[in-house]
Amino acid sequence: MTPEAWDYLQGGAEDEITLAENVAAFRRRRFVPRVLVDVASANTAATLLGTRVGLPIGVAPVAAQGLADPDGEVATARAAAESGALFCLSTVSSRSIEEVASAVPDAPRWFQLYVNEDRRFTRRLVERAEAGGFRAIVLTVDLPVLGYREREKRRGWELDVRLGNFEGEAGRAAREEGEEEGAVDLDRLLDMRSVAMTWDIVGALRGWTSLPLVVKGILSGDDARLAVERGIDAVWVSNHGGRQLDRSIASLDALGTVAAAVDGRAEVYVDGGLRRGSDALVARALGARAAFTGRPFVAALGAGGEAGVRRAFAILREELERAMALLGTPTLDHVRPEHLAPG
Ligand SMILES: Cc1cc2nc3c(=O)[nH]c(=O)nc-3n(C[C@H](O)[C@H](O)[C@H](O)COP(=O)(O)O)c2cc1C
Repeated sequence: MTPEAWDYLQGGAEDEITLAENVAAFRRRRFVPRVLVDVASANTAATLLGTRVGLPIGVAPVAAQGLADPDGEVATARAAAESGALFCLSTVSSRSIEEVASAVPDAPRWFQLYVNEDRRFTRRLVERAEAGGFRAIVLTVDLPVLGYREREKRRGWELDVRLGNFEGEAGRAAREEGEEEGAVDLDRLLDMRSVAMTWDIVGALRGWTSLPLVVKGILSGDDARLAVERGIDAVWVSNHGGRQLDRSIASLDALGTVAAAVDGRAEVYVDGGLRRGSDALVARALGARAAFTGRPFVAALGAGGEAGVRRAFAILREELERAMALLGTPTLDHVRPEHLAPG
């Protein structure tokens, strides 16, 4: 891929402190293995919102995967499906909801939602996802404004790639508003900032869909409690991979507090900095049912397309299975907080 695309896909906000810290937080943790446990058949399966998956590592929503490979999200989703993993599609994907749905009709997949000020457009995205067999809506809440991604600014780069979910939408919005075709500018629909959004959005979403709701971008115990009080089904601990507020706490460091606040009333996931299969065990020991990652999969997509992402999954699975055997945890349910050294 071009150096510009690489910087967009791999970069973070400002000084990239949080980007580095996410990885460092995983690397700091130390295992306390147990021995003489029968680990003859390590089983990496997990259940996420009622869906059985073969791996506790899913594909986080990453925009514009057409930058890495012409097949974009279709290739990533196919590789995830073949690897038994969950795929989460971004609102700002290169390939549309419908294209991904028809590429992997039977595979577990979730849809990540950015809320646009045009609520009819937002609602239609949710309805399209539900019609396309996506099994949960992942509401991203950490983008009131866009983080300052200095690597991109330095290059003077702007996102210029196909964004499948928006095709035809500006014309449709214009017709609905009785305006001249073209009067509703695509840029307005593409505006992902949710500057005035509050917890009230959860009620609106519940009115639009019966799918489970996941709230992505939680770092504080207080917000986790608010999410649970609003009836959210799962809390996804994330700092957007260090692309929003630089100096935000590493998501792994926030996980314990969030998991304690949720206290079993919703599922908890984490992303940001996972780079090895064994990292999924760290996440599990700290209270996450599953972990997600973004950059490793888009790097793999750029390097080898669908086969590249399959290979990334194979490496992660192999690392995870080996670590489970060495840790003395034949299933993910065996992983306890005591498998990590305190502190
Ligand atoms: C290039 C890029 C684009 C992203 N686009 C989105 C997006 O459209 N929606 C979203 O909720 N998160 C988005 N994220 C954040 C990821 O879902 C995830 O939180 C992050 O990548 C996790 O960190 P990791 O890449 O270190 O694993 C994006 C991340 C990257 C790197």
